[in-house]
Amino acid sequence: MKTAVRYYSKLGNTKKIAEAIAEEAGVKAISVTDEPDLTEYADVLFLGGAPYANIMAPQLREYAERLPADKIGRVALFTTSNRSRRTVRALRKILTEKGIPVEKRYFYAHMTRIKARIGPAKDFAGMIIK
Ligand SMILES: Cc1cc2nc3c(=O)[nH]c(=O)nc-3n(C[C@H](O)[C@H](O)[C@H](O)COP(=O)(O)O)c2cc1C
Repeated sequence: MKTAVRYYSKLGNTKKIAEAIAEEAGVKAISVTDEPDLTEYADVLFLGGAPYANIMAPQLREYAERLPADKIGRVALFTTSNRSRRTVRALRKILTEKGIPVEKRYFYAHMTRIKARIGPAKDFAGMIIK
């Protein structure tokens, strides 16, 4: 199974969760700003971000809007925030409208509990790709 991990992170929290997921999956976590397009097929794409003043970064939204439906089996979402889960809802909407299947289960980490959520993030990745 081919797995990819992509994220947008301004302050580093989402990056840490992305790296935990990637470690479990045996791949590299790559920022959407470093690699603006998904070029290789992925059976599972883990995609994560965070809200800033209630909305996800435009870099992440635009990345999701550009994702090629024919290069993705399904997407599993993850997010970090102070409270809001709206990044997950918004990404799910964009991807579903493009015809990309999105896992019902997603991973959440509160911004003050990133360290404590590394293990559970790995468990989540393992559960999705098993
Ligand atoms: C400018 C700014 C605005 C934020 N707005 C929200 C928000 O509207 N809702 C929320 O739950 N968290 C909000 N947060 C918290 C971030 O989503 C949280 O710190 C997240 O983990 C940041 O992810 P990152 O470290 O990957 O950039 C905000 C943080 C910043 C710096």
